[in-house]
Amino acid sequence: MKIFVTRAIPEAGLTYLRKHADITINPHDRMLTKQEILNGIRGKDGLLCLLTDPIDHDVITAEPKLKMIANYAVGYDNIDIKTATKQGILVSNTPGVLTDTTAELAWSLVFAVARRIVEGDQFIRQGKFRGWEPLLMLGRDIANKTLGIIGTGRIGTAFALKSQGFNMPVLYTDITTNEVLEKQLHAKKVTLNQMLKTADIISVHVSLTPQTHHLIGKDQLQSMKETAILINTARGPIIDENALIIALQNHWIFGAGLDVYEHEPDIPKELLRLPNVVVQPHTGSATYETRSNMAILTAKNLISGIQGHRPPNCVNPEVFTNH
Ligand code: GLV
Ligand code: GLV
Repeated sequence: MKIFVTRAIPEAGLTYLRKHADITINPHDRMLTKQEILNGIRGKDGLLCLLTDPIDHDVITAEPKLKMIANYAVGYDNIDIKTATKQGILVSNTPGVLTDTTAELAWSLVFAVARRIVEGDQFIRQGKFRGWEPLLMLGRDIANKTLGIIGTGRIGTAFALKSQGFNMPVLYTDITTNEVLEKQLHAKKVTLNQMLKTADIISVHVSLTPQTHHLIGKDQLQSMKETAILINTARGPIIDENALIIALQNHWIFGAGLDVYEHEPDIPKELLRLPNVVVQPHTGSATYETRSNMAILTAKNLISGIQGHRPPNCVNPEVFTNH
């Protein structure tokens, strides 16, 4: 079998793939263009791609031999799943292995924003520190504050559970009741509006869909507390970035911690001028351990799908019932 890999991933995954298939890897240290991806998949049975590769209708329908697309990410909003399913092409993602890692980055952002860690670091490096001062760089407490989780899937749940050392009342929004959080944290399911008005730290953990696009806009930001902190480690377009800039400029909220952006890798200059936002370059799953585990999982999904089995993390199992 023949596989195209759009960007070199950790060796553990490539080793697994090489054992089973003939693999071609993007030779460049950069993202491929759409044309390069189209050229790459010619004659291939499988595609291993990244969340930065738009796998649209053109790509999915270009190669009749293509049976399986394995995304090296848990989110798969970069892939036209409908078309893939229609074409009988399986798609997989990497759930589970990056849950704690992403929840840990979300907490890193909470601490960084609440205690102004990046600002403090820059302050010292710029030679501005003249000693302890009563009013120097005041932040916000975390313990005993109310935590709000938007979307309690794997990552949202892990993020909430990690609050246990901080004695935080937990509110969450979701379509279904989260038994784990209700039992272990006495978490309360609320409406988004109720959460926005009462939570001190709000973290976004839903996937990007037409329903969650701009879920947090001007009205939502305006109803948050002036002392509130907003964290996004999910997908940029869930928050209206222009509205967030206005909210941060006008101190509608205390601050924001972002790992994702509406038009990656472009980030508005106005956002980067603000001291009350901490920014990360989409590194939610970026640890040695997790990226290696993601590589192995992606490779296993890909091989299993090409062999005609149901991949362990298939996101469109309808392929098996429809074809
Ligand atoms: C990262 O954003 C992922 O979806 O894995
Ligand atoms: C701070 O360093 C304190 O001793 O209160």
